[in-house]
Amino acid sequence: MADDRAIAHPPPDARALARARALLAEARRLLVFTGAGVSAESGVPTFRGAGGLWNGVRAEALATPGGFARDPRLVWEWYAWRRALVARCAPNAAHRAIARRAAARPDTVVVTQNVDGLHERAAAVVAAERGDAAPRPVVALHGRLFATRCVRGDHEAPDDLVVDAGSLATLPRCPRCGSLLRPGVVWFGEALDPADLEAAFAAAERADACLVVGTSAVVHPAASVASTAARAGAALVEVNAEATPLSALATVTLRGAAGTLVPALLDD
Ligand code: OAD
Repeated sequence: MADDRAIAHPPPDARALARARALLAEARRLLVFTGAGVSAESGVPTFRGAGGLWNGVRAEALATPGGFARDPRLVWEWYAWRRALVARCAPNAAHRAIARRAAARPDTVVVTQNVDGLHERAAAVVAAERGDAAPRPVVALHGRLFATRCVRGDHEAPDDLVVDAGSLATLPRCPRCGSLLRPGVVWFGEALDPADLEAAFAAAERADACLVVGTSAVVHPAASVASTAARAGAALVEVNAEATPLSALATVTLRGAAGTLVPALLDD
């Protein structure tokens, strides 16, 4: 399996880096918008590009209500695999730099498409280091990998539920109504949480600058958060291993690894 983390990049252009640093430092209201690429160096596979398949199956075939209705055991097997993988991962230098900025400058809003919880874990560590009463919140547009809920309604189940995806009979069921439990993430074809969407787009409309990290920017409505910020006048700084549909809107694009570039952009 090829590895996104192995992509070699020339060092970033020093002037582009300096310009982006200045834009982000001067921004009074910064929106940080991330995708799977910010977690690639933590060892979490991205969805598209190299390593984007699981046992030859595309995420879009699994992460849908129809996919779960057809084969809940297969979908749970995929999520159980992802939960086990993410549980072994730790936030990387990019998550930590974003968390430091958000803690130090409360007008920073962090919005992610990731369900891995690594931004939240970095925020908790930074809050503890600073002695803050609580970590800065993260808007997780696509839900949380470790959350579990009932397919029928909003019945929640414990976050740390251990799922045996060995057979249909061993899949977890709702203690209140007996329906199958499912991962607490947003699937293709499902609506995002209205409060999360409102928070993300409100931050996009207000932002002076938007730092976009590691997203292919092809899944909407999430991807529109960054383009909305750019259209509302924010300076857009894009950090990505490759060009994306957002690159044309970006004030500065930096090609390279998030774990190197994000601290270089945000740290004092
Ligand atoms: P993708 O897998 O589509 O894109 C990852 C992006 O990260 C690509 O543009 C890569 O070039 C870039 N990348 C990879 N490694 C990087 C690194 N070390 N540093 C910087 N950039 C790097 O992931 P998302 O855009 O997050 O949705 O995908 C969006 C949504 O599609 C996900 O939230 C998920 C998925 O299906 C749902 O599950 C609903």
